[in-house]
Amino acid sequence: MKAFLQTLLDQTIDLLKQDGTIPADLQPRFQIDHPKDKAHGDLATNLAMVLAKPARTSPRLLAENIIARLPKSALIRKAEIAGPGFINVFLDPLWLASQVERSLADPRLGVPLAESPQRVVVDYSSPNLAKEMHVGHLRSTIIGDAMARTLSFLGHQVVRQNHVGDWGTQFGMLLAHMEEVRQGGKSPKMQLSDLEGFYRQAKERFDSSEPFADRARQLVVELQSGDSYCRKLWQEFLEISLSHCQQVYDRLNVLLERDDVVGESFYNDELPQVVADLEEAGLLTVDQEAKCVFLDEFKGQDDAPLPMIVQKKDGGYLYATTDLAAIRYRKRVLNAERILYFVDVRQSLHFQQLFAVARKAGFATEATSLEHMGFGTVMGEDGKPFKTRSGGTVKLADLLDEAEQRAGQLVRAKNPELPEEELAKIGRVVGIASVKYADLSKNRSSDYLFSFDHMISFEGDTAPYLLYAYTRVASIFRKGGLDNQVLTGNVLLNEEVEFDLAGKLVQFGEVLGRVAERGYPHYLCGYLYDLSGIFSSFYKNCPVLTCEDPAIRHSRLMLSQLTAKVLHQGLDLLGIETLERM
Ligand code: ARG
Repeated sequence: MKAFLQTLLDQTIDLLKQDGTIPADLQPRFQIDHPKDKAHGDLATNLAMVLAKPARTSPRLLAENIIARLPKSALIRKAEIAGPGFINVFLDPLWLASQVERSLADPRLGVPLAESPQRVVVDYSSPNLAKEMHVGHLRSTIIGDAMARTLSFLGHQVVRQNHVGDWGTQFGMLLAHMEEVRQGGKSPKMQLSDLEGFYRQAKERFDSSEPFADRARQLVVELQSGDSYCRKLWQEFLEISLSHCQQVYDRLNVLLERDDVVGESFYNDELPQVVADLEEAGLLTVDQEAKCVFLDEFKGQDDAPLPMIVQKKDGGYLYATTDLAAIRYRKRVLNAERILYFVDVRQSLHFQQLFAVARKAGFATEATSLEHMGFGTVMGEDGKPFKTRSGGTVKLADLLDEAEQRAGQLVRAKNPELPEEELAKIGRVVGIASVKYADLSKNRSSDYLFSFDHMISFEGDTAPYLLYAYTRVASIFRKGGLDNQVLTGNVLLNEEVEFDLAGKLVQFGEVLGRVAERGYPHYLCGYLYDLSGIFSSFYKNCPVLTCEDPAIRHSRLMLSQLTAKVLHQGLDLLGIETLERM
């Protein structure tokens, strides 16, 4: 609904330009908000305050002028001046009702497609394959996935890229251990079912045996030079590790597939060319025998210049070199217009340097938007990064097991009468949803505290609360025998809470637009939580199935149905499954 008011205000600005009230070339930047306090209307704008200076008048006088010139529209019931010159707009219930009717009839629920769809690369999950996925990979995986889903829903072309760490010296050690295991007559495949343990054993061997360490180093060199025996061994390792990741993705209801894996090794052959391109662009400096790029804008302590090293003294390449190659590929081959990186905020300096160097080298142009969507750390209840009781990293698979098991207990206590099979399914859905929602609903830029007790609870802003709200709306249709038919007809907004519910429902598209632009799925979570709250008051105050007036009953059913659809769609964009009962 902001977009509707925006159009009216744009027309008014044109009128003010035509009669010389403001300069014709002025492009004012003003805001339209949803006031928290209902006394301030449904929408408010600071336009008059922004334009008062160029119009050489007072904001309140100008506000009067703007209100007088606002094109007549069914949207507005009344517009008022408030405070220093805000304009508060009150929506017309008839208009709002018509928007609800339209949204319900529209399979996209009234959400418009993006005006200029973009090709967006979303780099997410991207674990290192030498080890099993741990809690540190949770945020990238699920926030990135929610973004990929939201962008596609808005009509953008999304290319998912799982930039896995599948290259580097630690693979020498792993391959050497695979060899030993096989020589000992065991199958590495079996041993690799515990990837974590396998890594630990390999590391122990590496640290304690000189011949083993030599063999590991030799294998790295052979792997890099494309030796076929080595490649095969490495491939075998990757397949197993990737299948572990895929199991986690499937459990998490994350869209990533095998084809989305384009890891570090993929860029290996292009690294010499990347360095050559940097040389050509005059960006390279040799410092202590390493090839580096120094940019003026990056200074370390004491103002010392801060290099981005792209090739080490021994000829080896680095994480940064691979990332430069990836940008080059994403721009040239994937035609990316926007590249989003869902990576820990602790890598911000890396990304700032990367983006700056990539632009200077021409790997990305000004038109390519490069965005590091950084996220904070998952903290334990002790206020330190989340660890197991013994201080180890928490495997993602174990964390999900525990969530499912705890959620199972919760739903079993609530519905002892349900058949065991259904309870197990509900427990699974609720457990995974709880972990995902607890993470997605926090501002990604900050750290957050991981607490099973908070996230698996029906109280507060949690997945069980939202899933339960959804089942409650869905049950209206089951009880009324109205499953599966989309209701048409007239929506009537007589009660205040009906008006509020309608007002919230038609904001869905706006919220998704903001999520897509800024990369913050917590906006969508907050919206769904508010919507559930308003629905709950509506449901308390406005009888639906038992309402005696058939027209009002029908209208309330329509409002309920749109609520169900928006909740369902919204949760789906977060990658959260819904249940029909729980
Ligand atoms: N594998 C890296 C890590 O675990 C994350 C990679 C993120 N993506 C990227 N293009 N750098 O830290």
